[in-house]
Amino acid sequence: MKKAKAGTLTILLLTTFLLSGCGLTPKTSQDEVNAPQNAINKAASEYVDTHSDDGRIVVGISMPDRLLERWNKDGSYLRAQFEKSGCEVLLRFANNLIDTQENDIRDMINEGADLLVVTAVDCSALSDVLTEAHAANVKIIAYDRLIMESDAVDYYVSFDNYKVGQLQAEYIINTLHLPTAQSERHIEFVTGDPVDNNSRYFYNGAMNTLLPYLSSGILVPLSGQSGFYETSTAQWSTDLAQQRLQIILNSYYPEGTDLDAVLCANDSTALGAVRALSSDYAQKNKVLVTGQDADIANIYSIIEGTQSMTVFKALRQESVVTVSLGLSLLEGNTPASDLITSSDWDFSCSYNTTDYDNGSKTVPSYLLEPISITQSNLEAELFDTGYYRRNSAGLIYAAK
Ligand code: BGC
Repeated sequence: MKKAKAGTLTILLLTTFLLSGCGLTPKTSQDEVNAPQNAINKAASEYVDTHSDDGRIVVGISMPDRLLERWNKDGSYLRAQFEKSGCEVLLRFANNLIDTQENDIRDMINEGADLLVVTAVDCSALSDVLTEAHAANVKIIAYDRLIMESDAVDYYVSFDNYKVGQLQAEYIINTLHLPTAQSERHIEFVTGDPVDNNSRYFYNGAMNTLLPYLSSGILVPLSGQSGFYETSTAQWSTDLAQQRLQIILNSYYPEGTDLDAVLCANDSTALGAVRALSSDYAQKNKVLVTGQDADIANIYSIIEGTQSMTVFKALRQESVVTVSLGLSLLEGNTPASDLITSSDWDFSCSYNTTDYDNGSKTVPSYLLEPISITQSNLEAELFDTGYYRRNSAGLIYAAK
């Protein structure tokens, strides 16, 4: 159980306790990680428990669901690295349910969490529980999705999500040769979950990039659907994406009418789009399908040619930044760009203190770079770099 906020004396006693070797012993994890270890290998004795005097350093991780490959990976990467650094980790998945996530977070506060790493199911629904966490002196990192309308959020770690949408749109512009196209091209949009704050960034990045071609009329959604809500996909569901595109194909793309591209915001929606195209599209032309996440099922689709591209976000890097940030917060620091300059990360990360306003405050943010993946750079970017490997039967698995 969480106890009262630690006073100076308690901190001194705790530090003495830890330094005497009787404190937390870093647990060895089965889930070996290759992350840079400079920032995450510190002994538990260097950390000051920020809100409890129970002798534990507890990190609560709240992920939105287990349905997507990525949140399972994020959860296990984060857990392995925090445990390796001597923290006790509580990891919960919310089944995409707002109430479940609120309860999970409340439980983790009660179980003594000193730090919470949260990917919100609904980015605007956590204000109350996070206010409670803040009052208990728990540090809060919004992981991947910015949590809105809460001044309790201390930091945000993610990718440049506007750029994700830009990369998807640029792929379509270049592959369809839109700058020189003489006749109309047809596109449909399958965008993200509207309660996920990232969906807006993806949508704006894609739409602003496509705007000149949509405005000139060279690129047209025959369904007439291009608004954020009308193209959105609740819970990023593959089935809903498939059903919506099937309806569009049957209503607006009869035999003789080509569809050229489906801009899907991520890989789960791309799976649905590919299924709809294979069952309900009458024409023979290759339809471009975009995605995001480089999930293994989608890598197979790219190799087969049913999906055209995805946007890869190195989750390992996102977790390395989050763990370094979290440990620094647990030490009582106020990290800024020095978190990056003092690291030996072999990837680029920027620190932003101006652009991520959550409605209550501008949240200091660490942002990583997404990469566009097609058949032509898939081997070099994903396999030669060691993120993915093939086993002796040729099956792909995530390696780092
Ligand atoms: C993440 C994507 C993911 C989507 C669905 C977004 O917030 O940034 O990587 O595909 O959620 O879970």
